[in-house]
Amino acid sequence: MKQICVVGVGYVGLVTGACFSDLGNRVIALDVNQERIENLKKGIMPIYEPGLEELVRRNVTAGRLSFTTDYAEALKDCEFAFIAVGTPSGVNGEADLQYVASAATSIAKNMKAPLVIINKSTVPIGTGDWVADIVKREQPQPMDFAVVSCPEFLREGSAIGDFTQPHRTVIGSFDREAANKVAQLHLPLRAPIVITDLRTAEMIKYASNAFLATKISFINEIAEICEAYGADVKEVAAGMGYDARIGRHFLDAGLGWGGSCFPKDVLALAYMAEEKGLDPRILNVVTDVNYDRRKAVARWTEELLGGSANGKTVGLLGLAFKPNTDDMRDAPSIDIAQALAASGATVRAYDPVAMDVAAPMLPDVQMFKDPYEMAKGCDALVVVTEWNEFKQLDLEKIKTLLKSPIVMDGRNIYDPTRMREMGFKYRAIGR
Ligand code: NAD
Ligand code: UGA
Repeated sequence: MKQICVVGVGYVGLVTGACFSDLGNRVIALDVNQERIENLKKGIMPIYEPGLEELVRRNVTAGRLSFTTDYAEALKDCEFAFIAVGTPSGVNGEADLQYVASAATSIAKNMKAPLVIINKSTVPIGTGDWVADIVKREQPQPMDFAVVSCPEFLREGSAIGDFTQPHRTVIGSFDREAANKVAQLHLPLRAPIVITDLRTAEMIKYASNAFLATKISFINEIAEICEAYGADVKEVAAGMGYDARIGRHFLDAGLGWGGSCFPKDVLALAYMAEEKGLDPRILNVVTDVNYDRRKAVARWTEELLGGSANGKTVGLLGLAFKPNTDDMRDAPSIDIAQALAASGATVRAYDPVAMDVAAPMLPDVQMFKDPYEMAKGCDALVVVTEWNEFKQLDLEKIKTLLKSPIVMDGRNIYDPTRMREMGFKYRAIGR
């Protein structure tokens, strides 16, 4: 059993804390957001993530997981401190490191014994060295510590499975002993462990996210070509995916990527390249292609409506940036709702879990508690998020509820032939 502190109880920190406590460690999870910590103490989760509430409850009950806002309490007797705070985009696309700086400063001021500081936040190359400088500078008296990079690769919506069964664990440090200690901590996960230097570990994270984003933008471009020539991008992706060098994952054409990660990480990597006088052409195009998807889907919806959404009512099926999460950060639904509203449409929406988070961000969108209620009287529906429950909707019923049977399927969840046979005016992506 190790004593671990996790700084930040968001998507990454809370999952990291809960999973390490479930592996038998003693974890104190800390956040500066008092309300989050008070709620967690009452068993109320700050985010929606399948299985998380039960995992947290089990480990709190077993006495292995607790919550605090007090750094001194969290770091007492602690051997490892994970930093898992946000690194959002700054004004020019760079990663904003203010939360990392503040976490590092608080750790430095409150550590009472030698400590391995493990950075899990996605941070620009060189941040580990910078964190080490902050800690050295801010310590009231010199005390041994090491900074290790251990980037996180989990996805929202499947975070617990991704954390406990990772494809690999990446550990970067110049301090071999510290790197080995962190490796020991991860041994129960039974994944290949890559030990490297700090900067390389930081780069592995950005390069991985940028590559996945590139794969999605690539298939979206292929989708457009498929559509122009009458091929089916779903079958193209399946056919490509059998080649182990390509792989089937992250080849789902649709509305493109959103969320709190790919958008900011591709921008931050491009910014880093430009800072060194390089021209990150691929990264820039990957982002451009991605954001064009949202405009295109709004435009295609208008085309289905006869050329204009003015005066029409459009219902969005799904708001979250992907299924199984309530995360609305850079969700394509925001741009689509705004584009349709700007064209004069009344926009409605239904999402199984994201509506509470979405409502303040989309004040003009009418939220419905049920997809059928939302469909009643709509001129068109747009599939924005591929929640499983949308795949089995009673489409005959939907057709009778709609004012006109129009469906813009932004996630390719329905069968085009069946939809057309049923009498829908239907458009999919690249099919
Ligand atoms: P988040 O916004 O959900 O959570 C961050 C938490 O940190 C918040 O609760 C905030 O109150 C807290 N915080 C901020 N400053 C603090 C401080 N000084 N001390 C203590 N707590 C503080 O963020 P997230 O989505 O979990 O992302 C965290 C990092 O992990 C980011 O760098 C992100 O890029 C990376 N990452 C995220 C995911 C993901 O799926 N969300 C996956 C892999 C990596
Ligand atoms: C992504 C990565 O997959 C994680 O490995 C990484 O840890 C995380 O970013 C991060 O660094 O924060 P996440 O953003 O949670 O995880 O979700 P993904 O499943 O990757 O989906 C991202 C976006 O791409 C979603 O909007 C999704 O709809 C879209 N997507 C995904 C597609 O359009 N097509 C696909 O084939 C796959």
